[in-house]
Amino acid sequence: MDTAALKSSWEQVAKCGDDVPLFFYSHLFLSHPELRAMFPIAMSGQRDKLVGALGRIVSNVDDLQQVTPFIQQLGRDHRRFDVVAQHYGAVGSSLLVTLKHFLGAAWTDELAADWSAAYGVIARVMVEAAEESSESTPSSWDAEVLEADRRTMDVSVVRIRTGLPYPFLPGQSFAMEIEQRPRLWRYYSPANAPREDGTIDLHVQLVDGGQVSGQLVRKLRPGDTMRLGAAIGDRLTLPEGDRRDIVMVAGGTGLAPLSAVVDQLDREWQSSGSGPRVHLFHGARVPWNLYERDRLKDLAGSRPWFEYTEVVSDDPSYPGPRGMVGSVAARADSWQGRVAMVCGGPQMVTHAVQELVRAGMPAEDVRFEQFQDVGAGDTTDADGSRTGDPQ
Ligand code: HEM
Repeated sequence: MDTAALKSSWEQVAKCGDDVPLFFYSHLFLSHPELRAMFPIAMSGQRDKLVGALGRIVSNVDDLQQVTPFIQQLGRDHRRFDVVAQHYGAVGSSLLVTLKHFLGAAWTDELAADWSAAYGVIARVMVEAAEESSESTPSSWDAEVLEADRRTMDVSVVRIRTGLPYPFLPGQSFAMEIEQRPRLWRYYSPANAPREDGTIDLHVQLVDGGQVSGQLVRKLRPGDTMRLGAAIGDRLTLPEGDRRDIVMVAGGTGLAPLSAVVDQLDREWQSSGSGPRVHLFHGARVPWNLYERDRLKDLAGSRPWFEYTEVVSDDPSYPGPRGMVGSVAARADSWQGRVAMVCGGPQMVTHAVQELVRAGMPAEDVRFEQFQDVGAGDTTDADGSRTGDPQ
């Protein structure tokens, strides 16, 4: 398989922008109308997730060893879309027809054979992982809203409970679909460690024009229902046995997964009386968006291991620390020997990581979510789900 040719041909096709998914979906839905219902009702307004990732992943098949866990995860995760093995042939054919269309004369028999083989490899890994997980895990979990607490004009804390037990680790996230917005999946993180009563708190930031976040913040009511995909991600979970001190840097509702890790550490501390020290910096544009301040201040007042600093970027009259949360955190200490955990909008995360590394933290000790790297859907999509306030 000529993997260099796969990569360069994909680069060529990707230059054609939105015409590529448009062509791909037109072909897919004309040749397989029965698949249309699996995709969002309005596709035009939503950034394409499948085609871009498909091309990137398949053309990087030479890295298979390294990305296998991700591909397996993707396969398992596709169960929430009701994808089954038979659908892979249809998607593969439309992919090849799309490539042929955009590559014109550059589309040779050899290239076609290579793309077909590469797609086959990825599809097989996805299908096998999905089939294996179907033996022990539901394809999705139904959940119900218990409480929707609108903390500010644009941030809500929503409490839900799943019908079946929902396994997750503090720091992980999941895709969620609400009944009012079918097939528009968005990523959220539980803001708490798993509880005995099965309840999960979510932090939701309203984003202008966000179809899902608008519904969640403004209209969600107790009794409304949703579906959750399996929990994913390991960048913000605590590795087994690693209990180094931590500096946490959160922007907006990027606080949620870090809050879950704090919850986990607090329970460990309550049962063992020991644990790492944690300093959490929470940044928001305006002070009233520090929506967890009461709880976090109380925690800081009652736990010797926990410190909490609020940072405001856009209000010159704010009396406390002002500026970008990453800069304030990086200036506050050398953080020698600590691990950093960063979560927020993409700009905030990039900036905070740079600042911490510049201040002397080893890059490998600065942990943050990076789903985009491996080609998955952007976790901080236009709807602001998952993180929100990009401050
Ligand atoms: C090698 C094969 C495939 C790859 C690499 C792939 C990759 C992806 C990725 C990365 C996403 C975004 C996931 C997310 O946002 O959480 C996605 C979404 C999706 N995929 Fe796939 N996929 C593949 C095959 C298929 C097949 C065979 C189907 C069946 C028709 C399918 C249906 C979907 C649907 C319905 C979505 C959600 C679309 C949306 O919300 O816009 N995929 N795919």
